[in-house]
Amino acid sequence: MTGSHPPPAVSPTYDPTAKAFHWLTALLVIGMLCLGLWMVGLPISLQKAKVYSWHKWAGITVLALSVLRLVWRHVHRPPALPQTLAPLDRLLAPWGHAALYALLFAMPLTGWMMSSAAGIPVVWFGLWQLPDLVGKDEAWFKTLQTTHYFLSRALIAVIVLHVAAVIRHDVLRRDGVLRRMLPFAK
Ligand code: HEM
Ligand code: HEM
Repeated sequence: MTGSHPPPAVSPTYDPTAKAFHWLTALLVIGMLCLGLWMVGLPISLQKAKVYSWHKWAGITVLALSVLRLVWRHVHRPPALPQTLAPLDRLLAPWGHAALYALLFAMPLTGWMMSSAAGIPVVWFGLWQLPDLVGKDEAWFKTLQTTHYFLSRALIAVIVLHVAAVIRHDVLRRDGVLRRMLPFAK
């Protein structure tokens, strides 16, 4: 038989701006998790106050990037999922991504609210004072501190699942899911 098979369908990739948002946010968030886990154990000092400020500035940057990213995503829809994806994966992928997006908003917002409840205004990069989201209130501060703590653990869990899913697809199934988000893949 001489007829050739059609080439395997190559799944389209995310656009360069969506990729830039993804990798910049991924770096910032992983850095933020490490910074957050480390800084809470520091003894009270000027250094601790400084590191807390960096954490707040980077966290508000994640929030700003996530707002821009969702606007971008609304206008530039993500590529269709690969044809080869199993029905269950097709169902799970959007929920996994939605959970990541929800946490990309919930983490900075609870952090910002926690700061406001502690009576410490957030001054982004030491330049722009952001409005307080709630009034100074000790009970609210404690609740928001606990919420920020548990959300950070949920975020770690969802990121682990996200990366595990990508590895499972790319290494075990070889369906090119990682390629869709790689910086220079077309
Ligand atoms: C992507 C965004 C963020 C991530 C991933 C993140 C992550 C974390 C983590 C892992 C901790 C340590 C929790 C613990 O183990 O006790 C923490 C603590 C903290 N975060 Fe964030 N955070 C984010 C955004 C923010 C923002 C925007 C603010 C404030 C404007 C903020 C304020 C704080 C404060 C004040 C603490 C210390 C709480 C304490 O002393 O117990 N965070 N954050
Ligand atoms: C080494 C770590 C990471 C790898 C290898 C990775 C890889 C990927 C890949 C391949 C996709 C595309 C999935 C598809 O084709 O549908 C994706 C999407 C996504 N990733 Fe990651 N990722 C990583 C870390 C992160 C982190 C830390 C976050 C955020 C906390 C994140 C948030 C997202 C979101 C929200 C999407 C959905 C994009 C959209 O459809 O708008 N990723 N990631």
